[in-house]
Amino acid sequence: MILTQSSVGRKILVAVTGLLLVAFICVHLLGNLSLFAGADAINAYAEKLHSLGPVVWIFRLVMLGLFAVHVIFAVQLTVENSSARPEAYMQKVNEEATFMSRSMIVTGCILFAFIVYHILHFTGRVVGVENVEALVDATGRFDVYTMVVQSFNSVAITLIYLIGMVCLFLHLAHGVGSFFQTLGLTNDSTFDAVGKLGKVVSIVLLVGYVAVVICGVAK
Ligand code: HEM
Repeated sequence: MILTQSSVGRKILVAVTGLLLVAFICVHLLGNLSLFAGADAINAYAEKLHSLGPVVWIFRLVMLGLFAVHVIFAVQLTVENSSARPEAYMQKVNEEATFMSRSMIVTGCILFAFIVYHILHFTGRVVGVENVEALVDATGRFDVYTMVVQSFNSVAITLIYLIGMVCLFLHLAHGVGSFFQTLGLTNDSTFDAVGKLGKVVSIVLLVGYVAVVICGVAK
């Protein structure tokens, strides 16, 4: 596959998979916001998703593939970049750009750990959820609402989620703008606007996800 053979191609793969993952994160937030509408809304939403059966599994496999491509090539590019420049610069030309690109690998690794934890928590229900068998609502559906609310009653779990959300914000504040640059979609007049767009998207996601956590804590 030609794209994987050059660093520009790998950058394009990281950018495109990153954007598709952002699309998932936006849709996932919309689903999670149903927590505000109460137990019936979020339990019905979760049951509807699970009733799609094989479609859910196809979707999960596609997401896993996108995630794997994004992580593997992002790590590879970071290793290549640092070995291409073994000596630190005498003087940093652009402190902000250097800080942002360096923090991408750090926030990316923390996000990776968060997503593994999150899937074990809410999808696998093997960590942070007690007495899973009892989590059934009055209509016999799995009680996602109580699982989420009980989880956010734990300070440790809430902190894990807040750290995950802050890393997501930092990662996307740089990553979204970077997508447009990688694909050559910016020029001198749109460069700043694209950077701002990345920050707006990441702030909206941060506020939305933190609101869901706070809603869970408050219930
Ligand atoms: C307040 C924050 C969040 C809440 C309350 C939440 C809630 C949930 C729940 C309840 C599920 C299980 C869905 C089910 O199997 O019925 C889930 C799955 C998932 N979440 Fe989240 N989520 C949050 C944040 C995030 C973030 C920030 C990401 C990505 C960066 C994310 C990525 C995923 C993924 C990949 C899955 C697996 C999807 C699947 O099971 O098919 N979530 N989430």
